[in-house]
Amino acid sequence: MKSRTLLLYSGGLDTSVMIKWLQDQLNCDVVTLTLDIGQEKNNLNEIALKAKQLGATDTITRDVRDIFSEAYISKAIMSDALYEGKYPLSTSLARPLMAKEAVEVANLTGCDTIVHGSTGKGNDQVRFEVSIRALDDSIKVIAPVRDMNMNRDEEIEYAARNGIEIPYGGKYSVDENLWGRSVEGSTIEDITREVPFDAFKWVVPPEKASDSPEKISLLFEKGVPAGLNDTRMSLTDVISSLNRIAGMNGIGAIEMMEDRVVGIKSHEFYECPAALTILAAHNYLASAVLNRKELSAKSAMDGYFSDFVYSGLWFDPVMDHIGSFEESINSSLTGTVSMKLYKGNIIPAGVDSSNSLYDISMSSYGRNQSFDQGKAPGFIYIFGNETRLTRSARNRMVQQAEIRA
Ligand code: ARG
Repeated sequence: MKSRTLLLYSGGLDTSVMIKWLQDQLNCDVVTLTLDIGQEKNNLNEIALKAKQLGATDTITRDVRDIFSEAYISKAIMSDALYEGKYPLSTSLARPLMAKEAVEVANLTGCDTIVHGSTGKGNDQVRFEVSIRALDDSIKVIAPVRDMNMNRDEEIEYAARNGIEIPYGGKYSVDENLWGRSVEGSTIEDITREVPFDAFKWVVPPEKASDSPEKISLLFEKGVPAGLNDTRMSLTDVISSLNRIAGMNGIGAIEMMEDRVVGIKSHEFYECPAALTILAAHNYLASAVLNRKELSAKSAMDGYFSDFVYSGLWFDPVMDHIGSFEESINSSLTGTVSMKLYKGNIIPAGVDSSNSLYDISMSSYGRNQSFDQGKAPGFIYIFGNETRLTRSARNRMVQQAEIRA
């Protein structure tokens, strides 16, 4: 009996070539798995039909948008997740979900191998393979572009010889899902130039965006969005709507120099309109509801979350501990944040939460204060002890060294 392999199939050139190539070179049956994670080209039936025509024995499709929102993106929101302070981890978050689905389907369909389309230079190979092994160590993994050194010219030639339609993908390498669009390659690789407008698709470049601001309000419950503009909706719907509304107002374009897990610097362009808007609102709500020590501890934990997700460690047990902390600290983050979206800027326009720590009678410099200013000098004296005593000890040290010299 022929062995069966499961291919994570997007419908693009690389993975279409792989369907034929796996049958030819490895003489195995190919089962394809195509997931809708909110990418634009998501006609799953069309993609499955193409896989069948290329000889796949089974074609499986799954709409995992709500799983992605509820079990992955929600955790990133609670953790204010931005890698290197900028990237909302859109591609990084989807890989463990894809790995989990692949392991599940491989086991259901009797496949002993999972095939993915990553190259040997990026982060995605790490994310897929660390995740698959953590979930099921008995499954083999191959990445033909990397392991058999497939290159794009050879692929195109192979596709032409085997009657595989070569889709026009544009000049960039793009990965899309609900949480964002990652764009790499071509002119973006030249770091002496700005990112050209032809890389923009979800975001209207700020200088071309509308001249009047758009006001929105976002309802959070325990740190997770639960409604937009006074209408309750699912997280998937909040994100889809905001990708459109914020994108139209020039929000979401991110240009950055990024440090890959494999030690390479790369110049990246992202479009994440909903992600940047939601994270800004979440951050603002947290700044009203959490105290300084909570914010400081959260910021440390958020840093670990982003770094580990970027590095492909979603299924490492440490993520459960970080998740427990984030859930606990987000439990009071309920309230509504209003914002104005204007030419690429997110301008806070009010926060309303019954859990807010802000007390105008405390902070106001006006009259009617409930704060007793007379206690301040004593506080400052004791608060300053450590600095004052250390400074004078160091001064003595310098003087003694000068006497000795
Ligand atoms: N650099 C990003 C990451 O590692 C995005 C990579 C996405 N791939 C692409 N073909 N654009 O998460």
